[in-house]
Amino acid sequence: MKREDIVEQLIGNNKFTPYIEKSTAFAPANIALCKYWGKRDSGLNLPVTSSLSISLGSRGTETTLSVIDEKEDRIILNGEEIQAETEFAKRITEFLNLFRRDNKIHFLVKTNNNIPTKAGIASSASGFAALTLALNKLFHFELDNKSLSILARLGSGSAARSLFRGFVKWHKGEREDGMDSYAQSLNDSWPNLRVGLLIVSMAEKPIGSREAMHRTVETSPYYKHWPQKVADDMKVIEEAIYRKEFGLFGQAAESNALAMHASMLAAQPPVLYFQPKTIEYIQQIWQLRQEGLSLYFTQDAGPNLKLLFLKRDEEKVKENFENLELVNPFEESEEA
Ligand code: PMV
Repeated sequence: MKREDIVEQLIGNNKFTPYIEKSTAFAPANIALCKYWGKRDSGLNLPVTSSLSISLGSRGTETTLSVIDEKEDRIILNGEEIQAETEFAKRITEFLNLFRRDNKIHFLVKTNNNIPTKAGIASSASGFAALTLALNKLFHFELDNKSLSILARLGSGSAARSLFRGFVKWHKGEREDGMDSYAQSLNDSWPNLRVGLLIVSMAEKPIGSREAMHRTVETSPYYKHWPQKVADDMKVIEEAIYRKEFGLFGQAAESNALAMHASMLAAQPPVLYFQPKTIEYIQQIWQLRQEGLSLYFTQDAGPNLKLLFLKRDEEKVKENFENLELVNPFEESEEA
């Protein structure tokens, strides 16, 4: 099944003329607590397992899309023009191709992240989600959340989850066309939950998540245990969210991330995202936990860590990690 066919199924084939000249949309970044690692269809970004994340409130991507009278798309990331030959630009252009059809329009994509790009803080997730929302406005597709999530997934798997705030579950789905593989917001909120971004390095990753996932699925002897591990952790995390049992929540999220990294380490050639500083931080977290602090971490396809803790421990955590970027994922619902 081709991506173009999915787009046509969702949108119909008569809506490919821009309705307005310019649109702007925001989508939050998200951090997986139960990870998506491995695709069953790499063209459509269909995952082997379901996953669960927390969106980062006002941290994410704002994208302004406009139609331009030029021969190719122009992409401006955080104020800097990105060359068309770069991987970053190619991924966006290929995604935009899905919406061009017969009319050879081109776009100016101005995108601003208020989180570090390509440092394992899932900026591709918020980026493709914001772009999907901007396209929906520009063309007046009037899609529902489920269809938007399916569209965003075609850009980047984890983008399916960045359409929503709070806790989000992406159902893996069973169908070959992926029409049942979309994310949904969980109704629970947890206003006292805090996420801390601990940046080890802002450098580009040595290997992207697409290739790293593929290699793990194909060569890691541990990958066969991954779906069951996800199913077990998912159950615990959902229950812990519902009951606000932070210890269970943190423990399952941390264990899920470590199991994902263990499966990568066993791949051939191995995939290793840890840097010395990552390990140093992990040991510090475990030491603090031994001393009684309820602090856990998760780690994605990069060297940075995301800390999980409660509001009551905010000061203590900040004292121990000076360069921590504190995020309150439910900031808006708190105000409401
Ligand atoms: O959506 P991608 O291709 O950037 O993959 C995301 C993979 C992880 O961040 C490691 C896990 C996840 O569920 O977000």
